[in-house]
Amino acid sequence: MIPPVKRVAVLISGRGSNLQNLIDAQDASYRIVLVISNVEGVGGLDKAQAAGIATTVISHAGKTREAFDGEMNAALHAVRADIIVLAGFMRILSDGFVRGWEGRLINIHPSLLPAYKGTKVHERVLAAKESVSGASVHFVVPELDAGPVIAQTSVPVHPGDTPQTLADRVLAVEHKLYPDALKLLASDKVKLLNGQAVFS
Ligand code: GAR
Repeated sequence: MIPPVKRVAVLISGRGSNLQNLIDAQDASYRIVLVISNVEGVGGLDKAQAAGIATTVISHAGKTREAFDGEMNAALHAVRADIIVLAGFMRILSDGFVRGWEGRLINIHPSLLPAYKGTKVHERVLAAKESVSGASVHFVVPELDAGPVIAQTSVPVHPGDTPQTLADRVLAVEHKLYPDALKLLASDKVKLLNGQAVFS
């Protein structure tokens, strides 16, 4: 039996280049039904609107983490989202929100996790004189950037790289990695079971 198309919501905070790739890569396994940004006026909102996808801005400003996440939950349940995709979403989510979407909430991070969790990744990779970096797609768990990895791609670090040149090289591989990983989840080929990514 062909599994039903999964209804995906994408959470963004910025330009949305990963969002654009996820839009372009939609197939029979998933459809993007909503884009939520916590920041007004960002490029990702324009990209969603150009593709005819519903958007909403839910600002975090002046709200507790729980109140903000509660507003997002209401919007996500209203569109009957099956899967939540974080694509350059730069807010930490409450434990309650993460637990509520366990196994159905994924993130992309610009490092080879578990190395270089958190922010300023490329600066730290260069300072450590690494020769390899990359990108990871992982299930989101309450601990930041610590969830089981679904897929990773590595890139070389070149002598003379700046944080920007390295970020650009990593971003280029993110654009293939994220749709591939989302399709695995949307077609039930990967699941979060007992804290591990299990593939079938
Ligand atoms: C991407 O490089 C993504 O990995 C990173 O933000 C960028 C968003 O770019 N995410 C994080 O650092 C999450 N902690 P985009 O808006 O063009 O997709």
